[in-house]
Amino acid sequence: MEDFKDKVAFITGGASGVGLGQAKVLAGLGVKVVLADIRQDHLDQALAWFRERAAPAHGIRLDITDRAAFARAADETGRVFGAVQLLFNTAGVSAFGPLEKSTYEDYDWMMGVNFGGVVNGIQTFVPRMIAYGKGGHIVNTASLGAFNSNDPAGIYCASKFAVRGLTEALRGALARYNIGVSCLCPANVNTNIAEATLTRPAALSNTGYPLNDEILTSLRTIYSAGMDPVQLAEHVMKAIRKNQLYVIPYPEARASLQAGFDAVLAVLPPEDSDPQGVSRRQAAMARFIQEREKREKREKTSEKAP
Ligand SMILES: NC(=O)c1ccc[n+]([C@@H]2O[C@H](COP(=O)([O-])OP(=O)(O)OC[C@H]3O[C@@H](n4cnc5c(N)ncnc54)[C@H](O)[C@@H]3O)[C@@H](O)[C@H]2O)c1
Repeated sequence: MEDFKDKVAFITGGASGVGLGQAKVLAGLGVKVVLADIRQDHLDQALAWFRERAAPAHGIRLDITDRAAFARAADETGRVFGAVQLLFNTAGVSAFGPLEKSTYEDYDWMMGVNFGGVVNGIQTFVPRMIAYGKGGHIVNTASLGAFNSNDPAGIYCASKFAVRGLTEALRGALARYNIGVSCLCPANVNTNIAEATLTRPAALSNTGYPLNDEILTSLRTIYSAGMDPVQLAEHVMKAIRKNQLYVIPYPEARASLQAGFDAVLAVLPPEDSDPQGVSRRQAAMARFIQEREKREKREKTSEKAP
């Protein structure tokens, strides 16, 4: 996508941090932005920024894990600004602690918001974007933790691995509709994510992780050294223009990514170690893909037939 002017963007987590940075940069490009967020105080503060600049922005209080509410938010967006062509599945939460002490509620909360929220965004908006028929772009926010996992962030990273996997597949699926798809993988951003636990539902409050003022202060200190969300959003807009799959504007990420990919490749046998097995498996896969494509073509033709 090249021309942003007068398009409509729906941004989950749009009232704070990464999402708010995206909303500000989009507004500067003439986009009408919808900020969807679970926190009313974040929405009130964020909307004041847009009002002061007379930039078209609309706030919707939404818990992205609530599918019915997500559909209502999409309908409201349509009534207020028109059809969405830009979708930013940005909202996310984190909690860290020893993986073996995790509770089911730790899993349900983080997987529910970070992965389930992205799923709900896709399920709600992709059919609408396809029906509108004018293409667009979707940016799903994962994390550098979608490539490298570690103990205290195990569930968070698992949720982000899932977002990354789904995003790669979605890109293939939506190319034919002229809808680009990108996966944003930030390393550290100066946001309010240290406060994420404030949005944790009471029903999922049972946690196996310690949280006290000392831990909160040290989390806030790390994030305060992160990239400015507006600067990050400018990288995202460049990536949308190029329809780039990954957005990872952190030079320091190279070493850990390199080590991770190298470790995976190191366990593979040499390329010439099993020539017969390789050609048998590749031929079977090629046949499978060919048959699937034939089937899809047949189904399309019969759909078009009166
Ligand atoms: N801050 C970082 O260093 C960093 C690094 C990598 C990835 N990320 C990712 O960036 C995304 C945005 O986080 P951020 O750092 O801007 O944090 P943030 O807390 O500043 O903003 C997230 C917003 O999402 C909202 N939110 C939380 N749960 C929600 C729900 N169920 N429904 C709707 N809104 C909800 C919060 O109220 C908040 O306003 C997340 O997906 C996070 O995992 C952040």
